[in-house]
Amino acid sequence: MGLGLALSMVFSGCAGSPDQGSAAPLTADQRLSRTERLGDRLFHDTTLSEPQGMSCATCHNPERAFGGNNGSGIGVALGSRPGALGIRNTPSLMYGSFSPAFSVDRDNTPSGGQFLDGRVDGQAEQAGKPLLSAVEMNNPDQATVVAKVAASAYAEDFRRQYGSDIFTRTDDAFAAIGAALAAYQQTPEFHPFTSRFDQYLRGKDTFTPTERRGMALFFNPLTGNCVGCHAADQSSGNPRDSLFTDFTYDNLGVPRNTAIPANADPLFFDLGLGGPKRTLPNGDPSFNGAFKVPTLRNVALREAFMHNGFFTRLTDVVDFYATRDTDPARWYPGGLKFNDLPPAFSGNVNVTEVPYDRQLGDAPRLSPQDVMDLSTFLRTLTDEAFVGALPAAN
Ligand code: HEC
Ligand code: HEC
Repeated sequence: MGLGLALSMVFSGCAGSPDQGSAAPLTADQRLSRTERLGDRLFHDTTLSEPQGMSCATCHNPERAFGGNNGSGIGVALGSRPGALGIRNTPSLMYGSFSPAFSVDRDNTPSGGQFLDGRVDGQAEQAGKPLLSAVEMNNPDQATVVAKVAASAYAEDFRRQYGSDIFTRTDDAFAAIGAALAAYQQTPEFHPFTSRFDQYLRGKDTFTPTERRGMALFFNPLTGNCVGCHAADQSSGNPRDSLFTDFTYDNLGVPRNTAIPANADPLFFDLGLGGPKRTLPNGDPSFNGAFKVPTLRNVALREAFMHNGFFTRLTDVVDFYATRDTDPARWYPGGLKFNDLPPAFSGNVNVTEVPYDRQLGDAPRLSPQDVMDLSTFLRTLTDEAFVGALPAAN
């Protein structure tokens, strides 16, 4: 929804989540609501890029569950300058506020954080990054961004909220911009829990036989085992127990996307937790090539899949899970597996967990029919507002 609907939500007092009932009184204090509104304005403000014309929403398209790549067509985001291409696919922002801060637990398992490599802890800190990234909004420094907000139509609201001298304090103003953007991303617009799957959990919708079959495969530890990483609980009536990610990291051996300009250099590799945008947690080389498990909520709306946008069809992603090891020639040139990792790190790829425990000559864990049914089930994870934007099945 754009600003209009967000404003009307605030003024009509129904900013609560659907779970709380549509007529819930506005309990959040006005200050928070104003912060959210400022975040909404900032998120859609196309004057905040260099050159102007790009906002957060240009890549995080509100009509496609806040994902998209600004029309690059190659699976990674196109920035504000012509030809400014990054190395990563734009994630959906839906349900992202549930990600905890980045940490590595006692079992040496990394989890949480923002970005596909968890390099920042929260959304407030995150928001500053695209504003200053040369391949995204391309502002040279914080002062430039602050000056743009000071000249905006909502500058007065900003002063009222953060103090009349806020724009003279660059660090504070930039932090306030991040906080407002984070507050906006925490509103129910970003976690409505209105998918058919949610309604099914609430006992308010039924699934077709195909959807039920796909769901069973998703949860079965011996076939799809998708739930092993895309955590969900079909016996809980509370949709919050089904975020379809456990926020951990894994290395799936996704094929190299040769359309990414940085990949023209055969020695360049995007290793996720292993850099180039961060340093290895605990210096542990086994994390090289691991990326965050994304939520599968609204996944059927994505125009590209996986960290490097290699896949463009949902059924292909599921097929890759099924046949990566039984028929590698389908995915890797010459059948040479794990071609987006330096040979020294190919041993980091997950080859033990179902469905990835197969070898050449084995039968895949999932048949072609299973792949179709699983993909059909994934379409039920689409929130109501986006159902009209779903691409045709298969
Ligand atoms: C040029 C396209 C582009 C623009 C503009 C853009 N982003 Fe992003 N965004 C991305 C990409 C690509 C990533 C993944 C980057 C990575 O993992 O290194 C990302 C990641 C994120 C994440 C982390 C999501 C997750 O699942 O970890 C958040 C939050 C986010 N962006 C918010 C914003 C906000 C707020 C703005 C505006 C200030 C913005 N983005 C502008 C492309 C964009
Ligand atoms: C061992 C953990 C694990 C298991 C099991 C798993 N996934 Fe994933 N999944 C991931 C990770 C990690 C990524 C992101 C990888 C990347 O970007 O390199 C991912 C990405 C995806 C994506 C792309 C999402 C996007 O926004 O780009 C889809 C679709 C998906 N998984 C579906 C499934 C299905 C269906 C199953 C069961 C057949 C499954 N996954 C099993 C860890 C797992």
